[in-house]
Amino acid sequence: MDLDSGAGLLHRLTSYTPDREWDVPVDDPRVRHDLVPNDVATVPPPMKAYPSSLPVLALPQDLPDPGVPATAVLAGVAQPTLPLDAAQLGRILFLGAGVVRTATRRGINHLFRASGSAGARFPLEVYASTRGVAGVPDGVHWYDAARHALVRVGPAATGDVTTLVVTGVPWRTGWRYAERGFRHMYWDGGTLLAQLSAAASSAGFTPRLRSLFPDAAVRELVGADGVHEHPIALLSLGDGSPAVGSTGPASHGDLPPVEFPLCTAAQLAGERDSFGPPWPAGAVLREVPSSPSLDEVVRRRGSQRRMDRSRTVARSLLEWSMAAALRGVDVPHWVAVHGVEDVDPGLYRWPDLATPLRAGDLRGKLEWVCLDQTLAAEACFVAIAATSLTPLDDRAYRDVQLAAGLVEGRLHLAAYALGAGASGMTFLDSAIPELLGEPDDIAGLLFTCVGVPEYTSRAGGEPGAPVEVRMVTPRFAS
Ligand SMILES: Cc1cc2nc3c(=O)[nH]c(=O)nc-3n(C[C@H](O)[C@H](O)[C@H](O)COP(=O)(O)O)c2cc1C
Repeated sequence: MDLDSGAGLLHRLTSYTPDREWDVPVDDPRVRHDLVPNDVATVPPPMKAYPSSLPVLALPQDLPDPGVPATAVLAGVAQPTLPLDAAQLGRILFLGAGVVRTATRRGINHLFRASGSAGARFPLEVYASTRGVAGVPDGVHWYDAARHALVRVGPAATGDVTTLVVTGVPWRTGWRYAERGFRHMYWDGGTLLAQLSAAASSAGFTPRLRSLFPDAAVRELVGADGVHEHPIALLSLGDGSPAVGSTGPASHGDLPPVEFPLCTAAQLAGERDSFGPPWPAGAVLREVPSSPSLDEVVRRRGSQRRMDRSRTVARSLLEWSMAAALRGVDVPHWVAVHGVEDVDPGLYRWPDLATPLRAGDLRGKLEWVCLDQTLAAEACFVAIAATSLTPLDDRAYRDVQLAAGLVEGRLHLAAYALGAGASGMTFLDSAIPELLGEPDDIAGLLFTCVGVPEYTSRAGGEPGAPVEVRMVTPRFAS
C-alpha cells in the first residue's frame, strides 16, 4: 500500500503515536488544523435533514419479532422466511440503526442507536432501495431513525432485490476524531451491518453484503455527494441483482458543508466502477448454545464502560463467540487473554489457544496500548484485528476496516447473548507491531473487549420510545 497517497496516506497521518495526544493533529498541512475537536458550538446534527415536502411513510411501531435465539442467528442456522413488508423492513432497520436510548451531556441531546459507534458519533445513514416490499412503494427511501419512518428521496431503482445502502458522513465523526474518523465510518459500518444482517437472517432472508460496487452510481442513487457523504456498503435482502440502478435524481438532503480533504481523497482513491461478489456467509456452526432472542439481545446491547477484573469467563464463551464473529471473515485476529477459565493468560493468534505467542499477565500492556483506557485491562479477553498493509490497495483498505467492524459487532452480540459484556476499543497504532510480534507494516484495525459487566445498562426502548439514560464514563489509568 502506498503510504504517500489515498487511503495509505490517511492511515499514516491519522496513526496514533505516544508522542502526540490523540486529539492533536499531526504536523502536516494535509490534515486540518483549523477545527477544534469536540467543540459544542460546532456539533453537527445527529442525522441528515430533508425538505418536509418529500413523501414520508411512518413504519409500524410494533416490530414483528421472529423470536429466534441470537446464538442461532450468529451461528448461521437458516430460519423460515417471513413476509417482507413495511413492519419487517422497519424491524431490520430499527435493530441496526434505530434510536434506542437518549442521554443529555454538555447540553447536547445524544441519540444512541441500536448498534455501537466509536465515540457515539453515529456517522452513518441508511437508505432502503425497495423492490416489492408490501406496504412500501418501490423507491429509494432514507431511514429517518428519529421518527422510525421512510422518507422517499428517489425513484424506484432497477435491479431485483431490496437493498440497504449504508453511507458515512466524515464530519459527524470527524468533529471528535478529525481525519481518523474515516476509519471509524467503516468500523461503525461493520457494527451496523452485523446487526442489520442478523436481523435480516432471523427473518429468513439471506442478506448479501457487498463492499465492491460502482461508487459513482450508488452515490447518484442515494444523493451522496462524495465529499460530505460516502457510500460504504450494500446489503441486499436476498439473492439476485441488488436494486441499485438509479433511474433519476435523488434529493441530496442537508449536511453541514465541512470537508476533510484527506478523507475525500482516501475515499476517491478507492472508487471503482463494477460490482464484486457478496461476502461469503461462512460455514454454519454446529454448536448453538441457548440464548435470548436476537431482538432481546439487541435491546440489551450497549457498550460496557466498566468491567469486573476479578471475574472470569468460560473458555467455551471465548471459543464460541470468536468462531461466530469470524464466520466468513479472513482478517487475522489475535486474542489477549486476561481471565478465561482453562486458558493461560497471554497473547494468542486465533484460533490457536494452545500456544501463547507471549505468556503472562498482559493487563498493563493492553491498558497502555489502548491509551490508558482501563477496560482493556478489566476485560476477560481482548480480540485484536490487525493486518499487513503492504498487499492492500485503496479499496481493500476500506474492506479490512469494515470487516473488523463486522467482527466487533457480531462478537458484541455473541457476548451479550451469552451473558457477558463488551465494548469496541481504539488503540495506539505505533504499538501494534511490538504487541503482536509482527513486522512494522502490520496495522491495527479494531479491538473488542469482552468481560464481566460491573453494572447492567437499561435495555433500549421501542421505536418512537427511546429510553433516557445517564451516561456511565469509562475509567482511565491515572
Ligand atoms: C468501532 C468502535 C470503537 C470504539 N472505541 C471505544 C473506545 O476506544 N473506548 C470506549 O470506551 N468505547 C469505545 N467504543 C464504544 C462506544 O463509545 C459506544 O459504542 C458508544 O458510546 C455508543 O454507546 P452504546 O454502544 O452503549 O450504544 C467503541 C465502539 C465502536 C463501535
